[in-house]
Parts: sequence; structure tokens; C-alpha cells
Amino acid sequence: MNKPTIYITRKIPPYLIEPFSQYFQFQMWEDEHTPIPREILMREAKEADGLLCLLTEKIDRAFLDHASHLKIIANMAVGYDNIDVEAAKEKGIIVTNTPDVLTETTADLTFALLMATARRLVEANHFIYQDKWGEWSPFLLAGTDIHHKTIGIVGMGRIGEAVARRAKGFQMNLLYHNRTRKKTVEQELDVSYVSFEELLEKSDFVVSLLPLSEQTENIFDKRAFEQMKSSAIFINVSRGGVVDEKALYDALKNKVITAAGLDVFKDEPIPSSHPFTSLSNVVLLPHIGSASITTRENMLTLCLENIRAVFQHEAPISPV
Ligand code: DGY
Repeated sequence: MNKPTIYITRKIPPYLIEPFSQYFQFQMWEDEHTPIPREILMREAKEADGLLCLLTEKIDRAFLDHASHLKIIANMAVGYDNIDVEAAKEKGIIVTNTPDVLTETTADLTFALLMATARRLVEANHFIYQDKWGEWSPFLLAGTDIHHKTIGIVGMGRIGEAVARRAKGFQMNLLYHNRTRKKTVEQELDVSYVSFEELLEKSDFVVSLLPLSEQTENIFDKRAFEQMKSSAIFINVSRGGVVDEKALYDALKNKVITAAGLDVFKDEPIPSSHPFTSLSNVVLLPHIGSASITTRENMLTLCLENIRAVFQHEAPISPV
């Protein structure tokens, strides 16, 4: 009997695929860095039984109408705003994502970005390379304290909780806002639930960990930045779409808020000519929240495990 065909939309290491080759025949876009062009994906996925895709692929209704053999779409990300999940459900296609395996790694990066932004680490590093270091002086590259400050976490999912645990270690005061209250988390981590507005008003660090949806799109708008303290630092490691980027640019330029650390953008990748790069009070990263080697391996393996489970008539491990 023919093995089911799984199409993988980016080149991934053979050692990750090998354990699954007894079950499937794999086809792959043989480029590690460039996303597969839409028309090639349409052509390649037409006969595929399963798809392992990345957040760079737009899996919309038109694609799903075309790729009619698919039984599963395994998305290598915890966020799945690139997939029309409703349309997939209507067609009986299972969609899976990669929660849990990336939680701690993404929380590490969130905190690293928060620290880098508050303490101006990137600027300080450039300072040496640009030969600007003269003498030690009292306020040279002085930034913002992190310890004992108030962090407001918007979106208290698994990553939010992991960020809260790190913040506790810095003796921060913790606020959160979420669709639903999480009383156990409140008790365990000593974090207080507040309204979105109160969080904006009271936080020294506003950290977005929100998934992108119709409800959250552009939630950080001009009004939101105006509600923040002028000393506030905004950190976004979730999705660029939750931010009105023009409003954020204006808020940073006009010092409505003090700084921002951004790992995600509306249209990725951003070029070096992007308006944000003209600002001195931002730290910009190329969407590397979950980018440790181990976590990326685990994310890919989880995708493959989900695919294996579905074809062996087991429940998928992490359906969305
Ligand atoms: C995700 O998982 O959604 C990240 O953005 C990529 O790790």
C-alpha cells in the first residue's frame, strides 16, 4: 500500500524526518530560508494527504478548496492566524499547532527583549563598535530599572504565565489582563487581574502576548499608547497585527511612551528602511521568540507526531 504523502513547506533536517519515514513519503520545498511561492504550494499540495506548514504560509479557503486530499495541517507555530480554521473544519481537515514545547523559550526571549529595551543593550553594544566610548560618566546609556517595577501582561496564556514567573524573580509587581480570569494563576503567581485600561495606566512594562484575532487586531492603538505612562516600555512578542504600527511609531517618536521592544510586525520581514529603524528608542528582532535549536526541533517533531497520530487513527496531540 502506498504511504500517505506529506508536503513540508520548508527544508528541514533529514534527522527530524527520518523517524517518520516508515509511515510517510515526504516531499519538501528545498529551501531553508525562503517561503514557498503560493503558486508552487498550490501545485505541490494538490495531491498531498498532509501538510506541515509554517506561519509564512497563508492557508485560506481558496487554498483549502484546491488541496482537497488534506487530512491534517500541522502548523509549526503556536499562533495559527495564518490558517482559516473554520474553513478547514468545514472540510473535515484537522489543524494542529505547537503549544507547550515553545513556552519557556519564548518567555526567555520576551524577558531578554524587555531587559535589552529597558537597559538599552543594543544601543550600548553599538556604542563600542562605533568607537563612541570616551570616559565613564554618570548617565551614560542610563536606562530604566526592571526590578520592583510593574509589569502588565496582556494575554495570560501559557507563555504569559512563564513570563510572570520570570518577573516574580525580579520582584516585580504583576498585573494581567485576559479574556477570562485565571484565579489559580492569580494565587500561585501573585498576579492581579485588571481591566485593559487599568493595566495600560499602571504598568511600567506593557507586554503583549495576545493571539491575533478580530477582537485583538490593532488593540494597541493611539488611544492605548496615550493611556500608558510616558515612562512605559511596550514589548510585543505575539503578533504584529495586534498593534497599530503607525500609532506606535508616533508614540515613540513623540515620547508618548519611552521605548518599545518588538519581535513581531504586521508585514514580515521588515526592511531596514522600515520607519521603526529610524527611531533610537526601539529594539527590533526578526521574530525569534521560539528560536532555540532545541525548541525548533521540538516544534517540528510535534508537527510530525501530530501527523503520525492522525494517520494512525489516534487523537492529534495538539489540535487547535
Ligand atoms: C508562534 O509559535 O506562534 C511563534 O510566533 C513562532 O514561534
